[in-house]
Amino acid sequence: MRALITGVMGFVGKYLAEHLLSQGIEVWGTSRMESPLLRLKNGNLKIVQNNLDSTDDIHNLLCSIKPNYIFHLAGQSNVKLSWEDKEGTFYANVNKTIFLLDACVKYQQENPRMRILTVGSSEEYGKVESSELPIKETTILRPMSPYGASKAAVSMLIQQYHKAHGLNVIHVRPFNHIGPGQSLGFVVPDFTKQLVQIEKGEKEKVLKVGNLSAMRDFTDVRDIVEGYYELVLYGKLGEIYNICSGDGVSINEILNKLIELSSSNAIVEVCESKIRPIDIPNYIGENSKIKSDTDWIPKYEIIRTLEDSLNEGRSRK
Ligand code: GDD
Repeated sequence: MRALITGVMGFVGKYLAEHLLSQGIEVWGTSRMESPLLRLKNGNLKIVQNNLDSTDDIHNLLCSIKPNYIFHLAGQSNVKLSWEDKEGTFYANVNKTIFLLDACVKYQQENPRMRILTVGSSEEYGKVESSELPIKETTILRPMSPYGASKAAVSMLIQQYHKAHGLNVIHVRPFNHIGPGQSLGFVVPDFTKQLVQIEKGEKEKVLKVGNLSAMRDFTDVRDIVEGYYELVLYGKLGEIYNICSGDGVSINEILNKLIELSSSNAIVEVCESKIRPIDIPNYIGENSKIKSDTDWIPKYEIIRTLEDSLNEGRSRK
C-alpha cells in the first residue's frame, strides 16, 4: 500500500508519516521546498516538491506515485494569520484543494479504489450557542474567521465531488490538536517557549498571554493521526467526521498546568496584541460518529501531552 501526504513537512505530517510507516505503508509526501528523503524512526519518507498549484502537475504526480490513499494536509492553518492574509488563506486552502480534487477525479479512472481524506477544522462551526454543545457534524456552520470559512468551503466541495464525480473522499474536522513539535502561533508552544526562556533565565518572569477564558477540546497529535488513518480506511465516503476528545478545557487551565509542570514561577500578563478580533468562546466536540464507524480511541491524557510539549520546548535551541 502507498500513501501520499500533502504538506508532509508540517506539524501533523511527520506524525502521520511515522504512523503510516509503522503500519507497513510506503509513504510519499509533498512539500513546497525541495527536500531530500527523510529518515524517520519507522522508515523512509520520500519527499517530492509540489506546490499544488496545478491540476496537471498533481495528476502527473499521482500517475507516478500511484497512491492508494491521499491525506490532504497542506494549507494555511493559523487562525490569527488568516485575518492578516485572507486571500492567501483562501488560495492555500480552497483553490489548491480544487486543483487536487480535479487531479483525483482524472486519476481515479486508473485507480477507482483510491481514497482521499481532506483535513478541515472545528473552526468551520464558528459561532456555536451553548445549547449546541457538544458540537456534532450536523451543527450549522457559522465560521468566524477567514480560516474557518475556507475550511467550510472545502467540506462543501468534497460533498459535491463525491456526488458529482463519485470521488472516494472523506472530510475530517479536527478540534485543537497539540503535541511536541508544534510551531509558534498556537497556544501551547506560545506558552511553553516563554516558560522555557524563564526557566533558563533568558527572560524576565512575565508570561504574556491572550484570551484565557476560552474553552477548547484538545487531542494529542499522535491520537489525531491514528484517527486520520482509521477514517481513510473505514470512514463513509462523502461524509464528514469530527475528531476530538469530547472534553472541554479552559486556556487558563492549560496555562496553570504548564506553569505547574515548569519550574518557572511565571507571572501572567494578558497582552492586548494577543487578543483576536473575534475569538470563539467555547469549543467542545462530539466524537460518537468516528467512534462508531472506526476503531479509533484516543490514548493520550492531556497532562502527558503538555509534559511532552514542555520537554520538547526545553530541547529546542
Ligand atoms: N495562539 C495563541 N497564543 N492563543 C492564545 C494565546 C497565545 O499566546 N493566549 C491565549 N490564547 C487563546 C486563543 O485566543 C484561543 O482562544 C485559544 O487560546 C487557542 O488558540 P490556538 O492554539 O491558536 O488555536 P485556535 O483555537 O485558534 O485554532 C486551532 O484549532 C483549530 C481547531 O479548532 C488551530 O490549530 C486551527 O488550525 C485548528 O483548526
